[in-house]
Amino acid sequence: FLVSSREMLHKAQLGGYAVPAFNIHNLETVQVVLETATEMASPVILAGTPGTYSYAGTDYLVGICQEAAKRYKTPIALHLDHHESFSDIQKKVETGIKSAMIDGSHFNFEENIDLVKKVVSFCHGWDCSVEAELGRLGGQEDDLIVDEKDAMYTDPDAAVEFVNRTGIDSLAIAIGTAHGMYKEEPRLDFDRLGMIRSKVEVPLVLHGASGVPDADVRRCIELGITKVNVATELKIAFSDAVKQYFIENPKANDPRHYIVPGKEAMKKVVMEKINVCGSAGKL
Ligand code: 13P
Ligand code: ZN
Ligand code: NA
Repeated sequence: FLVSSREMLHKAQLGGYAVPAFNIHNLETVQVVLETATEMASPVILAGTPGTYSYAGTDYLVGICQEAAKRYKTPIALHLDHHESFSDIQKKVETGIKSAMIDGSHFNFEENIDLVKKVVSFCHGWDCSVEAELGRLGGQEDDLIVDEKDAMYTDPDAAVEFVNRTGIDSLAIAIGTAHGMYKEEPRLDFDRLGMIRSKVEVPLVLHGASGVPDADVRRCIELGITKVNVATELKIAFSDAVKQYFIENPKANDPRHYIVPGKEAMKKVVMEKINVCGSAGKL
């Protein structure tokens, strides 16, 4: 019932659209993403950071996806987002998860390659696809915090060597996006993306898509991005709507009531991102 992201990303690459990857944390976020994706017949990836798996419990998340796969009669790509430890990935892949990101972007080139190779050789034995990052995004994603001055753009030639030596299935690149929202509009290095795309064959991943104008995300997809990661915009939509509900209903205490507007707000974001990715109807 859990599948790798390999096939859906290859299909997207051939079709010239992108698969959105939404960061989920609990039952409600899984419900919203899968319900919306099903209605729009869009492929999606459900991503969780290490913090999410420890918050929700890997077994609970896998169990929720198992039930969802039955309900929607479709296999689900549950993904390990920004995992940094080989043994952590190993443990989770052994529970049936088939899509992983090993983030060695804080290491130097050779150390990153060594770690990624080790993960690839393990994961491929379990039919688990592997994404890795070259270059480094600024901003904050959960426990992962990178100062802007430590952010680093992906070098196209190094990307070729990185992909060839590691055998990864997809490559996360840094072209000016950052995790979280932006103080000023991000200025993306589209030329660099074009260069990387012309040299590298595997699907390319855009992290940090929250706060990037739709037109820029679309341009990235035209230039060869195949997976678009969205986390922060979902969190903001959810929490803003729930806060507003409590302002209007200060005595409210039933989660089955106050969570509903949060879910509706997330649903809008999911729909928008599916439309930007051009993935509706591609299931
Ligand atoms: P945002 O929080 O900017 O959407 O980034 C998401 C991400 O890259 C998850 O890996
Ligand atoms: Zn990310
Ligand atoms: Na962002």
